Formats: sequence, C-alpha cells, structure tokens
Amino acid sequence: MASDVSAYVSDLAPGRGALRPARSWLHSDAPSRSLNGQWSFRLSKSAPSDGDFAPTGFDDSGWDAIPVPAHWVLQGDGAYGRPIYTNVQFPFPIDPPYVPDENPTGDYRRHFDLPEDWTGAERVVLRFDGVESLFKVWVNGDEIGSASGSRLAHEFDVTPSVRPGDNVVAVRVHQWSAASYLEDQDQWWLPGIFRDVTLIARPAAGIEDLWLRAGFDAGHGRIEPEITADPAAFPVTLRAPELGVEQVWSTAADVAPVDIAGVEPWSAERPRLYDVTVSSAAETVTARVGFRTVEIRGDQFLVNGSRVVFNGMNRHETHPERGRVFDEEHAREDLARMKRFNVNAIRTSHYPPHPRLLDLADELGFWVVLECDLETHGFDKVGWSGNPSDDVAWRAAYLDRVERTVERDKNHPSIVMWSLGNEAGTGSNLAAMSAWVHARDTGRPVHYEGDYTGEYADVYSRMYSSVPETEQIGTDGSRTSLLGCTPAQGARQRTKPFLLCEYAHAMGNGPGALDDYQALVHTYPRLHGGFVWEWRDHGILAKAPDGTPYYAYGGDFDEVVHDGNFVMDGMVLSDDVPTPGLHEYKAVVQPIRFAFDGDDIVLTNLRHSADTADLRFRWRVEHDGALVDSGELPVPAVAAGGSARVPLPPISVADEAETWLTLDAVLAVGTAWADEGHVLATAQLDRSTRLPVNGVRPETEWRRSDGTLTLGIAEFVNGSLVRLAGRPVAGPRLELFRAPTDNDEGTSGEVEESDAGVAGVSNAELWRAEGLNRLTTRLVSVERTARALRTVAKVSAANSASSVVVESLWSLDGEGLELRVDIEPSGGWSTVWPRIGIRFELPDGAAPVDGAEWFGLGPYESYPDSIRAARTGRFSASVHELSVDYARPQETGHRSQVRRLALTSKGRTVLRVATLPDSRGRRPGFTLSRHTPQQIAQADHPFELPVSTASQLTLDAAQHGLGSRACGPDVRPEFALRPESRTIRLRISEG
Ligand code: GAL
Repeated sequence: MASDVSAYVSDLAPGRGALRPARSWLHSDAPSRSLNGQWSFRLSKSAPSDGDFAPTGFDDSGWDAIPVPAHWVLQGDGAYGRPIYTNVQFPFPIDPPYVPDENPTGDYRRHFDLPEDWTGAERVVLRFDGVESLFKVWVNGDEIGSASGSRLAHEFDVTPSVRPGDNVVAVRVHQWSAASYLEDQDQWWLPGIFRDVTLIARPAAGIEDLWLRAGFDAGHGRIEPEITADPAAFPVTLRAPELGVEQVWSTAADVAPVDIAGVEPWSAERPRLYDVTVSSAAETVTARVGFRTVEIRGDQFLVNGSRVVFNGMNRHETHPERGRVFDEEHAREDLARMKRFNVNAIRTSHYPPHPRLLDLADELGFWVVLECDLETHGFDKVGWSGNPSDDVAWRAAYLDRVERTVERDKNHPSIVMWSLGNEAGTGSNLAAMSAWVHARDTGRPVHYEGDYTGEYADVYSRMYSSVPETEQIGTDGSRTSLLGCTPAQGARQRTKPFLLCEYAHAMGNGPGALDDYQALVHTYPRLHGGFVWEWRDHGILAKAPDGTPYYAYGGDFDEVVHDGNFVMDGMVLSDDVPTPGLHEYKAVVQPIRFAFDGDDIVLTNLRHSADTADLRFRWRVEHDGALVDSGELPVPAVAAGGSARVPLPPISVADEAETWLTLDAVLAVGTAWADEGHVLATAQLDRSTRLPVNGVRPETEWRRSDGTLTLGIAEFVNGSLVRLAGRPVAGPRLELFRAPTDNDEGTSGEVEESDAGVAGVSNAELWRAEGLNRLTTRLVSVERTARALRTVAKVSAANSASSVVVESLWSLDGEGLELRVDIEPSGGWSTVWPRIGIRFELPDGAAPVDGAEWFGLGPYESYPDSIRAARTGRFSASVHELSVDYARPQETGHRSQVRRLALTSKGRTVLRVATLPDSRGRRPGFTLSRHTPQQIAQADHPFELPVSTASQLTLDAAQHGLGSRACGPDVRPEFALRPESRTIRLRISEG
C-alpha cells in the first residue's frame, strides 16, 4: 500500500477528476452552501493508505475538531506540527517528483445536509478554493477526485454521490507532493484546507461561466461577452441599468459585443464600476464591470491610452494568526492602507490570492499583476538541473495552473497583466503557459521575470537591479549588456516596457534609495516603476518562554532548514504598523510634485489619468515649528500630466526663528480608503533668514587638572561627566557602532556600484572585525581653565592600530554650557562607518527619561538615503515610540538635523539640548533609546532585549545610509559614510 501512496503523491498530473475547463469565480444567485466550519480532523505523520477512512460508516468520534479554513500547523498549539519557513531551499530532499515518507497528512471529515430545495439542481458541485498541497475527496464513501495547485480553485461534480439529507464528505490532505516542487515560494509552508469549501447547486439552464471583457476607447465602452451555457439557457439577458443597457440574446450564436456610449473608464485612480447582470431563466450572475483597455505600444505599457507607472507592492497573503487564511475585513483595511500610502499597484506574489481580494482591488482601485501559483526556485541549488519548467513531463501541471489562474479571475478590470509565476528558471513549459494565455486572453500581456532574454514574455521585468543598471535599461544609447542577454537579446528587451517586479527589499530598517528609482521613472518613459518587495512581514504570533508574545520567523519553530528572518521584509510590520520605510515610500511616489520657482509654486499632476479636482491644497507657515499662518491655495483642476503655476502665499519671515512653508495636497472629500483631509502629498520651502553662528573664542590659560569640577549644571569627576542638572549621566563616549540593520548584514549586490562594501562580506562583519562594537578609550589629557574643561581621549579597539582622537571642550559662557566635540580619525580605517556620534547614558533613576520633544526633522526616523518623508517641525514622542519594533532588533530611531531637543520625564522637561551647525551648516541627528547599540545587536527578537529604564541619548554627526543589500544594492556612494573628522556642538541646559 505504501508504494500506492508514494505513486499517488509523486504523480506529476495535477490531480484527477476536477472539472475542466476551470470557471470564473462568479457572484450568482444559484443556491450554495458553505462547508466552512468545524470538521473532524486527524493528523498522521505519514500518508496512510486510503482504505481506512473514506467509508460512510467510519467512526471518527475519537478525532479532534479543526476549523476550515485553517492551516493545521497554526491550530492546536503545536499538536499538529509547526510551520516551516524557507526562502529558496526545499525543506525535503531534492528528489523530484518524490517526497519523503514522513509526509504529514491531515484527514478531514464532516457531515452536511443537502437542502431539500436543491432537488431541482441539475448538478451539485463541490468547490475548494485552496488546499495545500495535494488532496483527495470522497463523498459518502465514493472517491470523487484529487487535485493539487494549492492556491488555485478546484471544483468537482458530486451529483451522483450526494443524496437528500445527511451526507459525509472526507478530504485527505498531504503536506508534501510532487506539486511541492512547483510551490517553492519564499514563505511559510502551511498545509491544510485554508480557503473556503462550498457546495454549489448548478441549475439546469444556468450560466456556467461568463467573461465580460470591457474595453474603453474615447468615451465609448464595449462589452465583449463570452457566455458559457447550455443552449437551453437561452434567451440570456445582459442588463446594465446605470447605462440603460438591456440586451437579449435568443441563442448562443446571437451573443455579440455591446457598444455603449458615454461610459466612464475604470482606472486605479478612479475605479468606476458598473453593475451588470447576465440572466437566464434559471440563474442570474452579477458582475461589476470596469471599462479599460490594456495595450503595449512600442516600449510603453498603456491603459486607456495613458502610460501606467506602477507604484506597487508585492502582496502575499499572510497574517500572524491565520497564515494564508483570508479575512475580508483585514484585507480591505490592508488595501485601504496601501491607498493611503499612495500605492497604486499590486503584484499578487506569488500565487492568486483569495478571489474576493480582486473584487476589493476592482473597487478600491489598483493595477494588478496577477501571478500564477508557481515557483521552482530550489532547483537553483543544483544548477537548475531537473527543473520542471523545462521538462515536458510537467507540462500538463504547468498548463493546468495557468488555466485555473486565468479562468478564475478573468473578469477583473484591475488585472492588467498575467504573470506566469516567480523564479521557476526558464523553459518550454513556461513558454507553453505564455502561449496558452496569449491564445485565451488577447487583452492582457504576459509577465515573467525569469525570461531574461525575452523569449515569451511581453514586458521586460527584473528584480533588484541597481539604480545605475535600471537607468541603463531606460536608455537606448548604451551598449551595456543586460543580465543573461547577448547584445541582440538585450536590444530585443529594450523594445519592451520595463518594470521592476521586485525592488527596494524592505527588510528591517530600510530600504534606501527609493527616491533614486522613482526619479528614473520620470526620466525614461520605458521604465514603468515597480513593486516593492514586499508589503508585509510574515511574522507568526508566538510566545517566548516567559509568555511574552512576539512575531516568530524562520528557526523559531526548530525547523531543520530555514531562512531566518528573511521572511520579515515588509513595509508593514506583522502587527499592521506601517514602517518608516512605508512613509518614505508614500512621500517618494506622491502623485503631486511641488516645485518652487521664484515667487511661484509649480504643481505637477503625476497621475495616470485623474485630474486634481478631488484635491485641495493647504498651506501653513511655521516659525521654529510654531504655526503662524495658514490657508488654502486657489488651484484650478490640473489634468493628469499637466502643471499649474500659483503664487506663493504670504509668508511672514521671522528674524530669530526658522521660517518654513508647508504645502499639503489633501482629499477634498472622503473616499472608501481615507477621510476628507487625508494628506496625499507634501512639500516644504525654507524661507529662513540665515543667522550667523558664533565661533568659539579660544580659551587661554589651560592648566593640567584632575578633572574634578563643576561647570554650571555639569559635574565632572576625573575628567568624566557624572551629573547634568543633578541627574546622573555617563559619557559622552564616542559611538561609531549601530546595531546592524538587515541591510548592513547583507552580502548581495554588485560591489563596484556600492562603493561601501566588499564582495561576499557584509558591512556588519567588517565593523565587527574592526571592533567598532567594542571600542575602548584612553584618556590622554585633562585640562581646565576657570570656566572650561578640555579632555583628549584616544579611542580604538583591541588588536587595532587605527584610532580616533576625541577632543571634548566643555565651556561656560553668557549663554550657558556648551560642549564641543572634535572627532578625528587616524589613518588606517578601511571600512565605511555606521555612524559618527557621541552617546550619553542616563541611568535608571527616580524619574527616568521617558520621552522627547524636538524641533528638527520628523516625525519618523530618517537616514541619509531615506529622508524624503521627514519634514522640519516640532514633534514629540515617548522613548518607546522613538524606536521601531523591527522583528529582529536593529538600528532604529535616528531623527536627522535636530535643532532643539528636550528630554522629558512624565511630561516634565528634565534636560534641554540645542545643537549648533558645524562649519558646513550641518547639524547632528539624535537617537533616544532604552538600549545601547551593542545590546540591540545581541538580541534576535524584541523580547530578548534586557528590561531597562535607562536612556541612551546619541547625537550623530553622521549616519551611514540604509541601502537594501539584504537583497539588492548596497548604500549608494554618496550616502556611504567614510571615516572623516566631524565636530558636534551642543548647548545643554536644565529643563
Ligand atoms: C525574490 C523572490 C521573493 C523573495 C525576495 C527576497 O528573489 O522573488 O519571493 O524571496 O527575493 O525576499
């Protein structure tokens, strides 16, 4: 028997008995019954033989109960195994099409009543919207069929097996099967019946399938219907009440396109939908139709004649408790969040989502690249040998997948491109999928990134190409060869529209350089933007040994092979909190560009087709962040692609304070995804009078000192600061280290371009090798005058001859206490530095510092290559809010260019720090955290950080950029921090 099971699970066929052709997921008034709910469940460690559980009389009273839909590894507190996370690796031997005998197998059973009024149904169909990975179905003991294709829908005709009254359905699900070789996406392996199970009554003379292709051309809409129905279903009527359309076709042969004047087009910006019904006497199907025409003209990708720029996200279905189980409310809120952050496109990486998601995309407005459930990345390990993509034995499985993908979702206006899958190498099976799609749907192009040379995809697509390389792709003049292409193939690729199906890997703190990518899109029309990798972290809610909840990643479930926190690379954290990277993204892709030209503001509408009639333009003037004036700009509606010039509002310029004008483009009325007043785009103009900065009058009469003295609010012992305003303080010490970000730990990317890195070695590794995380200090000299203290210290690491000399000058003058720190590196440093800062430690005390108020850049953290979302203003935050809870603790919280900072305790200011610009006008940024960079670097999860009420205040003259080297390019040379001398000047006073 075991060998039967083995032959079954390793069968290359995509199952047997599911209905073909696949159909659309339709909204129909034919009766249906959800079989979601509690099922009896039993888990076996390996696949049992069929005999023992399908029959009707079977006693499953000893079984557990499990909800459907669900993944069994996320149920039962670990009783049913645990999730496994791998990126590229197969979690089983690469032995296609075989899988191990240890093959967790879930048996599901439930009873259902066949409703009395279904007796008129011609057929009864059982639909599964998603089961991972291979399953077999029995009804009342009859074997109905089997299927694989985890994120695809399968329907079975169960008519001969059902009977009025009580029925039993049994489903056996194997975690591993031949299909697992085709489902090696970078995500958790999560077996089970994880989407809906539905029993459907198919009426005689019903509408079996429907495809309403709705095109748009200059104010005219055209519906081209494809109606699949028995001849007895006719006459069939199409109604679009809002458009005054009622069309009756007496026979299938009469069905013809319907031309409609005066329709509004559908776009991601104005997702205009019309309700359309198609009815036979027995059934009415309701569709929401959006009129749009997709077209590739030369190297341009157009919808309704206008070029599309994808400001997109790769979206996985993931939830910390439900895994890939769909929750409509959560999905709607997630999509609304995308809209609020100026996202206009989704790639459904790397499989079709729950079908309802596409209804939401139609309704809220997104350009969707709908991807088939296919990835064979693990074959990379063996040089792609045996890759199913180029083995004709797998052709049927490939075609089955793409057919199910296209057929299910073909009606959605939001879908503007089909994607064959992800990282499945290349080969004739992919070419066959493409040919099938081209034959079936002439209205949408085919995408596949792995087709580097452009043999069968209609667009040129890449992932993680650097900014310079992306720019090369945008130009014609260059002879630079493209990845994997001969010059001739490269020339062919340059004839096509280009998109980045993945870029800006958003793992941990990052990505940097979003603005550089976006700038290219506006320079080279061939470049159509791209899709950030990725929208959400995939953390799974787990509990630390002490009960603290946390978001688990690879390795947290003791997986044999795993890829650690590579699954935590989203713009949104596992708990739905948008990262600073997402705020940066929103600012970079904002649909309105503001430029300042003399006394004018030039506004440009960067949208696809919508004008700005839905927006209002607000302005405000602030003096040192305090509001002094505000109003609204009179802006006429600006057409897409157009500009308007309006005069600057009146700006009263302050003598002693900074004067900033802020412009916001806001929604004039609420939408389905944001309230009236929601800010879509922002810009600032600095109108400050430049104030002279006083130099330092050199002190004379220095004499050696033991360094024990008091200068105003500062008390020193042996040359070290011990108290400020009566509050214990240690430091400041030179801090060159930051807790490495995931990008700092990354080794990918071309090193010539990065400037910063060394091939194959992460910057973090270089920093640790140079000892930046373990610097030691030797006090060289201490001197004082009546009103000043000067110390010189040499800072270096064990076994290193490189050092930094730090001269600190504390002085008291008419304006109070000033600290000037000159930081001077020796020769011999070879790496970039994470930061150049000084850190004060404010230990636990009676009234610990718990917050900050500042005037500078905010409100979110910013770094040199991720600073577009930051604006100049006054902000406040608690210590906790100043740090981002990245799934793996790392550098966080840097606020750039601070002018004034107040540390607070329970709402009371305890210490004030003002910065002075250096000779080039630069000001330091600050970080206030409960932990030192060294402590943060030790923790793999937030719960591992020691409990602390101490505060670490770091003032950084400079920070290294972020880049996206976790999977992509390193920090661009202009934002890489090379060792250099810096000066930090602070004025410190009591609260
Ligand atoms: C890509 C892949 C994604 C993801 C990403 C890195 O190669 O398509 O699924 O693995 O890299 O996070």
